[in-house]
Amino acid sequence: MNKTWWKESVIYQIYPRSFKDSNGDGIGDLKGITQKLDYLKELGINVIWLSPIYKSPNDDNGYDISNYQDIMTEFGTMEDFDQLLQKAHDCGIKIIMDLVVNHTSNEHHWFKESRKSKDNKYRDYYIWKSGVNLQPPNNWESSFNGSAWEYDESTNMYFLHLFSKKQPDLNWENDTVRNEIYKMMKWWLNKGIDGFRMDVINLISKDQMYPDGEIRKGHSLGNFAPYSFNGPRINEFLKEMNKEVLSKYDIVTVGETPKVNIQEAMNYVDEKRNELNMVFQFELMGLGNGNHGKWSNAPFKLTDIKKIMTKWQKGLEDGGWNSLFWNNHDQPRVVSRFGNDKEYWEQSAKMLATCLHMMQGTPFIYQGEEIGMTNVAFKSIEDYRDIETINAYKEQVNIKEKNPLEMMAAINARGRDNARTPVQWDESENAGFTTGKPWIKVNPNYKQINVKSQLEEPNSIFNYYKQLIDIRSKNQIVVYGIYNLILEDNEELYAYTRTLGEEKLLIICNFVDRISKFNLPQSIKYSSQKLIIGNYKISNGVNIKSIEMKPYEARVYLLKC
Ligand code: NOJ
Repeated sequence: MNKTWWKESVIYQIYPRSFKDSNGDGIGDLKGITQKLDYLKELGINVIWLSPIYKSPNDDNGYDISNYQDIMTEFGTMEDFDQLLQKAHDCGIKIIMDLVVNHTSNEHHWFKESRKSKDNKYRDYYIWKSGVNLQPPNNWESSFNGSAWEYDESTNMYFLHLFSKKQPDLNWENDTVRNEIYKMMKWWLNKGIDGFRMDVINLISKDQMYPDGEIRKGHSLGNFAPYSFNGPRINEFLKEMNKEVLSKYDIVTVGETPKVNIQEAMNYVDEKRNELNMVFQFELMGLGNGNHGKWSNAPFKLTDIKKIMTKWQKGLEDGGWNSLFWNNHDQPRVVSRFGNDKEYWEQSAKMLATCLHMMQGTPFIYQGEEIGMTNVAFKSIEDYRDIETINAYKEQVNIKEKNPLEMMAAINARGRDNARTPVQWDESENAGFTTGKPWIKVNPNYKQINVKSQLEEPNSIFNYYKQLIDIRSKNQIVVYGIYNLILEDNEELYAYTRTLGEEKLLIICNFVDRISKFNLPQSIKYSSQKLIIGNYKISNGVNIKSIEMKPYEARVYLLKC
């Protein structure tokens, strides 16, 4: 296995809108991030991933870009960005940017030109099709509800948007589009940024036949996924991007790739293939989805989590590399989802962190996770800001007549705004996020859960994350050790080992709110044991052959053979 800096790093995701507001307009900004670099240095992370900061009308909070080489007005200026990059580098922190090139904003000048006429120079930058019998070209449903095609009067044709109608899809079949994108990527890399997280990058190659999609239960339109994800030319495009751009820099790339299987993911990240370094796959994030996707529930067990995690740990072990995450700006907060955000808030947040950070791959921490931020549960839909949530509510409640209370419960459990409430810095008004009116309400629990109190408390979740990061940085076994699941069928304990040479790590995590008994499999032999980290006070000398694991307890032992 090749050793690289990005395999040995911990990456921290910042959603700038909700991180820290420096000028009182209620919206987080670049200067706010710069102000908090010391905090991130204290935590010990190595890389920041910045969600989009480019010029944008904010239909999808910056994932709709109107100018790739300019900064969103609310976030500041290019000088603010240069300063942030410089200061981060001075602190030994790298910065990777979000690259959103499956689509642009409809306010991007390419699109404004493209829609003007059929012979416009930019026409072919986007995907235009004629309607059929006054209907859209096919039955695809957009990710944010409604048809994925929008009719445009000026030329009497439809354009494709797999997300909102303000996010037209770029036409990657067009060489000029690809070259423009590569040029823009080089411009940022020449500024000194350290890589890219690539938004839905496995959507860029579409099936050129544009067939109708299957109409799944609970939907009235067709599923575009089989004809857009991992499409016919995706690997060719990524290889070209790698050759033209990525290979020329010492950077890290992580592709957001929903709906990938192991083989497809391996094709993207295999060290021998020269495409990407890592992908985000979402198999675990889909756990609990019912008939109506994430807005409905299906029961799941701990063994389901273990199966998925283990499949990916083993699947990419040979020549690939995993990204490790519980959270991001599209997902609910992990302590509310897989932990217990009430009685065992602290223990379960630390247990979940242990379980993930001891695996093989590069861990990603999403802002606020390191202080145990929880889901929010606003009472009214009026308090939500996310386009996906608002559109889904309108469709389910106003059109499909779903019970509004049921829909609110689903939104409170799975909606994206759970992750987007402002970072809770202290117990002052608006959690110290802004002196103005925040663009989205602060989670009312900020008086109990905030950075200030976490920094003061030696046994806090923050200090535990700090320790986990430190352990990884000092122990190659945490980075490169081979993963093996033990106690496969146990529904309470997630236990696994990591092996490197003569050493073994034993990780035991209790996922339930009661005592659970751990019995060490006889196949694990050792001559000495050392407790590396744990979330309860225990002495080192215990007999690890049989342990009563307390509610949400986690322990990591280093065993020598
Ligand atoms: C994935 C991003 O993570 C999400 O926030 C966004 O809405 C879509 N891609 C569209 O860009």
